[in-house]
Amino acid sequence: MSTSNASLLSDQQAIDRIFAHIDNGTTDLGDTVWQEPTENYQSQARFEAEIALLKRLPVPYCPSAALPQKGSYIARSAAGTPLVVVRGLDGEVRAFINACRHRGMQVAKGSGCSRAFVCPYHAWTYNLEGNLKSIPGPEGFPGIDPDDHGLVEVSAREKGGIVYVMQEGQISPDMLENCLDYFAPGQEYFEQGEMTDDANWKLLTETLLEGYHIKSLHKETFYPYGLDNVNLVETFGANSRITFPFRRIEKLRDIEPSQRRIDGTVTSVYHLFPNASIAVLSKHTSLAIIEPISPTKAKWVFYRVINRQTEEHKISLEEAQRDAQFVNESGQDEDREAARAIQESVPSQANDHFTFGHFEKAIVNFHQHLAVHLAENSD
Ligand code: FES
Ligand SMILES: [Fe+2]
Repeated sequence: MSTSNASLLSDQQAIDRIFAHIDNGTTDLGDTVWQEPTENYQSQARFEAEIALLKRLPVPYCPSAALPQKGSYIARSAAGTPLVVVRGLDGEVRAFINACRHRGMQVAKGSGCSRAFVCPYHAWTYNLEGNLKSIPGPEGFPGIDPDDHGLVEVSAREKGGIVYVMQEGQISPDMLENCLDYFAPGQEYFEQGEMTDDANWKLLTETLLEGYHIKSLHKETFYPYGLDNVNLVETFGANSRITFPFRRIEKLRDIEPSQRRIDGTVTSVYHLFPNASIAVLSKHTSLAIIEPISPTKAKWVFYRVINRQTEEHKISLEEAQRDAQFVNESGQDEDREAARAIQESVPSQANDHFTFGHFEKAIVNFHQHLAVHLAENSD
């Protein structure tokens, strides 16, 4: 992980600050208390404005490592649009709307590796650059110019081991200025996962962005290993990093400061505005994109990559899988359940707003930026 292009603490500084918080009984604090109207978690108009925003921002789609070869592709919906993203024969990643130009069938499904996309309906065939290469029975379509019937391309760009997609306009380099190098070349992709929750995508996102609930919500799962409400919260642009220390960070006190390694002693969660996050866990790193489906439903898409390895520090696939399973089967279910329970209370109007306090700085940063982006477009 390279943090050189953002004003984030070095590992050494982070360890020092965590020890200072433990010793003083403190945690990082924001300077703003934010009130978010509960209407924003159920309104159809707000949902549509957010989908429109997701289309005009560069949003993480998958790790570069999930498209390892020429012809590797992943098809899934992003902001309600079916897309297929593929690594071409030239090694470049391209994104297309996954809609055949004959009658709109999706030409790719799931993930795989292919030299062409053959539409399953009537077998119109496209190359990896999206060009229409063949029509069975061309005499049935006398007026069709293949050059006008390629797959519709949208902007895609790789940076720091992530593929970003933007459905409207072109991704410029300065749009990715705040995007760090999240994955090093050679880090191995090992699995994808999906799950759907009856909760607004923002409620699910909020569960990832504070450690004020560790003891209360995760009493039996994360709390035996982790500290409650001892966090580092750093914002960079609309993005943020939240550091959750494990109790085992204490063992670093006996190690000479310059020799201390933070890996395995904290979980770092990077929030990539607006709907993606990267969690660096002990053995693996997980990119999660929370796709809004409706005002009250969202789908998580996960891509998991084995952490960086060195000669002294090897990680097997089994270890990475066990690490992923621990997160899945423990605290994450509690977070999802909380988000679903909150969603059920929203229509009651018991709250006309939710309050995010000084411990919830990363969520405040998220809502502040979301409000600014949405306001920009309503002018
Ligand atoms: S819809 Fe694709 S070939 Fe007919
Ligand atoms: Fe949680």
